[in-house]
Amino acid sequence: MAAKESKPAYSPGLAGVIAGETQICWVDPNAGLMYRGYDIHEMAEKASFEEVAYLLLNGELPDVEQLNKFTSEIAMARMLPKQVLDALRLMPKKTHPMDMLRTGVSGLGAFDPELNDHSHAANIRKSIRLIAKVSTLITDGYRIAHGEQPLPEREDLTLAGSLFYKLRGEVPQDWQIQMMDTILILYADHEFNASTFAARVTASTLADIYAAVTSACAALKGPLHGGANEQSMRMLDEIKTPERAEDWLKDQLAKKAKIMGFGHRVYKKGDSRVPTMREIGRDLGKRTGKENWIPICEKLEQTMEREKHLCANVDLYAAPVLTMLGFDPALNTPIFAASRVAGWCAHVVEQQDNNRLIRPLSLYTGPAPRAYAGGSKNGA
Ligand SMILES: CC(C)(COP(=O)(O)OP(=O)(O)OC[C@H]1O[C@@H](n2cnc3c(N)ncnc32)[C@H](O)[C@@H]1OP(=O)(O)O)[C@@H](O)C(=O)NCCC(=O)NCCS
Repeated sequence: MAAKESKPAYSPGLAGVIAGETQICWVDPNAGLMYRGYDIHEMAEKASFEEVAYLLLNGELPDVEQLNKFTSEIAMARMLPKQVLDALRLMPKKTHPMDMLRTGVSGLGAFDPELNDHSHAANIRKSIRLIAKVSTLITDGYRIAHGEQPLPEREDLTLAGSLFYKLRGEVPQDWQIQMMDTILILYADHEFNASTFAARVTASTLADIYAAVTSACAALKGPLHGGANEQSMRMLDEIKTPERAEDWLKDQLAKKAKIMGFGHRVYKKGDSRVPTMREIGRDLGKRTGKENWIPICEKLEQTMEREKHLCANVDLYAAPVLTMLGFDPALNTPIFAASRVAGWCAHVVEQQDNNRLIRPLSLYTGPAPRAYAGGSKNGA
């Protein structure tokens, strides 16, 4: 009899499994988050999104000159090839913005002259183009789907300002730009989350960075990941008032429903990004007079803690924040992508700089070996 094969440990959903090394980001399960060793909280208040994107990609903070150059490189790379815009025009008007984005990123690859150069320098250059163009795919795709012309580029605006301007049609005030920067910084990276891991798996085959970011967009869409910030808003809309929140939640839990904006694979003592996002939400509530949303979230948080010992994640508060900033909830996940693309690109660069194919094992649970009794080719 053959010796019994020893099996490596198996963890469903890869929970607790270390699937690679990274120097980009550390998610502390006890509610901390660092980008390249810097606590994100101070950066989220003071930095521009470009400063953080530069840090993620290059490993160090930029000096003033480097930041200005990087910011203007992104601004100047925002324009899309006409053919990509035309392709977006061919899509059905009801296409979800995440599907448009995924298709657009895939199409963009063919227009990049360095598509198949996976050197570090070329990957950084392509990352800049991707960070720039992902935001334009979102803004222009959204306008096209709504029967409008995309607005002309404003190279004087940073990515946060441009995203706001091209979606809302008005140049944001300074406080709105600062809020957009903070939101984008909070979302920029989160180590081996599902979309980043999808990007790294694709990059590890030595497929190009556009292929990797296309995979990432596909993974981000799901409601257990990035799609949760859209679904959270739909949930808050259904609840409507803080007074209804507790009963609504208990009813859903009794039905064993998954509550969007709660739970996390890594954080078990709270999501480090929640306090900042909650604060923005309170501020926006006062500024816009929409003071219902944050109390609903808080009521849900208290009830969830009591009933299930589960903490809110950033998507619960990002949802009303983006709504109060005037965005359609269907744009919540794309706005997340406009930021996370910086993290995706940094991870692709890191993966391809020191590549090993990512190819795990599976645990076979199918039928035991059995005799084949078919043979349709022989007329059986
Ligand atoms: C994020 C998420 C996918 C993590 O899943 P996970 O790591 O497999 O979840 P856990 O193993 O910690 O779940 C532990 C228990 O809590 C439950 N749980 C986790 N999140 C829950 C939620 N949002 N609503 C209701 N129950 C939840 C699980 O069903 C499980 O219950 P069980 O032990 O009775 O089966 C999950 O929490 C979820 O679906 N959240 C909602 C979607 C969301 O907000 N996603 C954005 C994440 S940033």
